[in-house]
Amino acid sequence: DAEEVERTVVAGFRDVPDFPRPGVVFKDITPLLADPVAFGRVTGALAAVAREAGATAVAGIEARGFVLAAPAAERAGLAFWPVRKAGKLPPPVLRRDYALEYGTASLELAASAVRPGERVLLVDDVLATGGTARAACELLEEAGTEVVGLAVLLELAFLHGRRALGGRAVVALHAQD
Ligand code: PRP
Repeated sequence: DAEEVERTVVAGFRDVPDFPRPGVVFKDITPLLADPVAFGRVTGALAAVAREAGATAVAGIEARGFVLAAPAAERAGLAFWPVRKAGKLPPPVLRRDYALEYGTASLELAASAVRPGERVLLVDDVLATGGTARAACELLEEAGTEVVGLAVLLELAFLHGRRALGGRAVVALHAQD
């Protein structure tokens, strides 16, 4: 159930202070990934979110989003689409630059891999400032898909990432105030 999933997420994260910059608390999901029961419970919950949202595809954001979105898509019987960091995909690509909690980056999507008109659930590990997820949503929408929502394991609510996402739906398996 939802409470068991939330307990699993809370137990599976490790806080790493001052990484990768002083003042940033890095949220490390490697303990969760190393526990197959916990990992399966979380990807099962993400697959349920996708089904309940009527998604026809699940997109993941490189790198940690891939690890979660791909098994969730497969479990839900849906397509998996990778949204990649810049410079990894051959042209032609759609590209968005965005500001991170620490630095700047760019995301790319191979439009040819995406079918316009599909309903896509975007998945990532953490929603912090929302810049990454917003850039990914904009890429998917530019490619002609409808983003039915963002699903994350952990939302850092004090960074107000939902505001950056406008009215798009957000499901967080756990939120930290
Ligand atoms: C982290 C995290 C999210 C993003 C959240 O990724 O996995 O994608 O930051 O931050 P935001 O809401 O402030 O944009 P990171 O860029 O560290 O990449 P990684 O998954 O490749 O480690």
